[in-house]
Amino acid sequence: MPDFTATAPGKVILFGEHAVVYGKPAIAVPVTQVRARATVQAAVKALPGSVWIDAADIGLQAELNALDGRQPLAFAISLAQKHLHFARYPACKIKIRSNIPVASGLGSGAAVSVALLRAYSGFLGRPLPDEVVCELAFEVEKLHHGTPSGIDNTVITYAMPVYFVRGQAIQTFRPGRPITIVIGDTGIASPTAVSVGEVRKAWQEEPERYENYFESMAGIVESSRQMIEAGLIEALGPLMDANHGLLRKIGVSCRELDWLVEAARQAGAWGAKLSGGGLGGNMIALTAAERAAEVASALQRAGAVRTLITEVK
Ligand code: MEV
Repeated sequence: MPDFTATAPGKVILFGEHAVVYGKPAIAVPVTQVRARATVQAAVKALPGSVWIDAADIGLQAELNALDGRQPLAFAISLAQKHLHFARYPACKIKIRSNIPVASGLGSGAAVSVALLRAYSGFLGRPLPDEVVCELAFEVEKLHHGTPSGIDNTVITYAMPVYFVRGQAIQTFRPGRPITIVIGDTGIASPTAVSVGEVRKAWQEEPERYENYFESMAGIVESSRQMIEAGLIEALGPLMDANHGLLRKIGVSCRELDWLVEAARQAGAWGAKLSGGGLGGNMIALTAAERAAEVASALQRAGAVRTLITEVK
């Protein structure tokens, strides 16, 4: 069997994170500068059924059968096997690399699952179609996050801007004009499961208040989609600021995120907000393309451990 390689991008949520878990819409876009890559090669001299996994970036180098079945990589491989009705594992070596920061809101877990599902099924000679890759990656997401909305695996599988509502058909779309986004990393690792769990607790305690916040976020998402499609990019700035304000109210911002958001605004960004689960991880700033480098430098001076400039087309 020939080697098979597949990659998948990172992502950021432009509008609507957290509310999307409660059935509201959200908008997410791929970040193609960072990627997860999986390569599967035949292991000619290995024992039949021996699958060696080399995921050095996450400190994992092990035989598949030595891993707990709930380990996300092992789980993804077993899902592909089951879906394809392959009873036996082929002797192979799976190499996984990713430059997507972990636990930072950029979708690293979903990107690794998507790349792995594609590479493994391709290696078996039965490449899975996008809708199946997306569905199986969602199963892995559930293992990571408990109650994910499914937006991460969707935007990463299709690698296009998506307007997403849980349980509804996927809508991909193109912005009327390119959107320049500067991403700033607080350097604080923050697993999505934790922030999603905190919000759930707070929502259970004060359902009405939280439903109102989610409803306001949904309004922002609807307006922003219209503006994105019409190419009215600058006008998205105040919507980003308003979305950040609501994310603060639901309790998922933190001092470092607020600080970077403010630094981006001071440096001339049209708007800024945290992106993803929050409580650390990344924020995003919307800016004119020619100002992006300046905004990125301002974020670094304000303490961002990493910045990235991306253009959504
Ligand atoms: C994570 O990228 C976005 C959240 O809304 C969680 C989810 O949708 O599963 C925080």
